Amino acid sequence: MAQQDLPATGREWHLAARPQGWPAPGDFALVEAPVRQPGPGEITVRNAYLSVDPYMRGRMNDVKSYVPPYALGAPMDGGAVGHVVASNAEGFQVGDAVLHGLGWREYATVDAARTVKVDPELAPLSAYLGVLGMPGLTAYAGLLEVASFRSGDTVFVSGAAGAVGSLVGQIARLKGAKRVIGSAGSAEKVATLVDDYGFDAAFNYKEGPVAELLGRAAPDGIDVYFDNVGGEHLEAAIGALRVHGRATLCGAIAQYNDTSAPAGPRNLALAIGKRLRLQGMLVSDHSALRGQFLEEVGGWLRDGSLRYDETVVEGVENAVEAFLGMLHGANIGKMVVQV
Ligand SMILES: NC(=O)c1ccc[n+]([C@@H]2O[C@H](COP(=O)([O-])OP(=O)(O)OC[C@H]3O[C@@H](n4cnc5c(N)ncnc54)[C@H](OP(=O)(O)O)[C@@H]3O)[C@@H](O)[C@H]2O)c1
Repeated sequence: MAQQDLPATGREWHLAARPQGWPAPGDFALVEAPVRQPGPGEITVRNAYLSVDPYMRGRMNDVKSYVPPYALGAPMDGGAVGHVVASNAEGFQVGDAVLHGLGWREYATVDAARTVKVDPELAPLSAYLGVLGMPGLTAYAGLLEVASFRSGDTVFVSGAAGAVGSLVGQIARLKGAKRVIGSAGSAEKVATLVDDYGFDAAFNYKEGPVAELLGRAAPDGIDVYFDNVGGEHLEAAIGALRVHGRATLCGAIAQYNDTSAPAGPRNLALAIGKRLRLQGMLVSDHSALRGQFLEEVGGWLRDGSLRYDETVVEGVENAVEAFLGMLHGANIGKMVVQV
């Protein structure tokens, strides 16, 4: 077995209590835990970056879903990238960079077969949690496969300055959209969408009814809506979609911390006359696209036609702050924690 000296312990985040409504720092505990030597087929990774993602909020509730809930008093998990510091698995060397699912901690001992080697020469490690990782594939598959995007479509995306949304808008532009419109929660984000990402129009959804703001940005209606937000945004988009319009239902972050029934959409019956297609998606259904996605998005990154941002919070001890910040909109692009 090849290894550097492993420390006896490392820090990891546990879920201490199930949040009611908005999570609070007291719902989490930073725990010093033993670092386990890798068994046969396993590697130990010193995490370099941890991902904090909206779906993790759902896992803090004790409800049946497409991913099991986090257990109370146990480490949380999630995407992470780091370097192998001990290997008991064929084909994995100390120093290799890997992507895996045991985030929220400094050191992870994992089954090597459940990790993916990543190339730090191709992109900075953190990019494998964002533009070249799960959010990137979500944007790519959600727009091209789920919404059946066609050149000439007018596309509206909500959560447009975030990890997924910022890529949806840019991919639509690169693939020949007629018009790309985004919504986000601050003037700074709106300026980034237009000035840096090349959106044709953008608005701050906090400045008025979404239906009105969208109506002004897309006076001729939209063909595709990529929904990251749900509620009022989805209702406005159903109103703006043209006949045979398509919507990808990717997320509904406006309601993840709600304790009562969500708002709208109250106009769903419009989908009948307009023959709309509203389709939910899970990125895990689209792994077959990964090769094509990496090739095409990697190419756009290399030639500079696609831009991406990251909001980096330093220190494993600040991971909860990063998670809560992301839920509150503190990020432009992907929110990551540098360990
Ligand atoms: N279905 C799938 O397989 C899949 C995979 C990945 C992600 N998702 C979903 O995609 C969406 C985006 O995920 P992401 O990782 O890219 O996160 P993100 O957009 O980078 O970060 C979350 C953003 O949500 C916005 N937000 C928070 N509360 C809001 C509200 N009430 N109304 C409107 N916007 C609000 C905030 O930006 P503002 O400042 O603009 O408010 C915040 O920055 C989420 O809904 C997530 O659950 C789904």
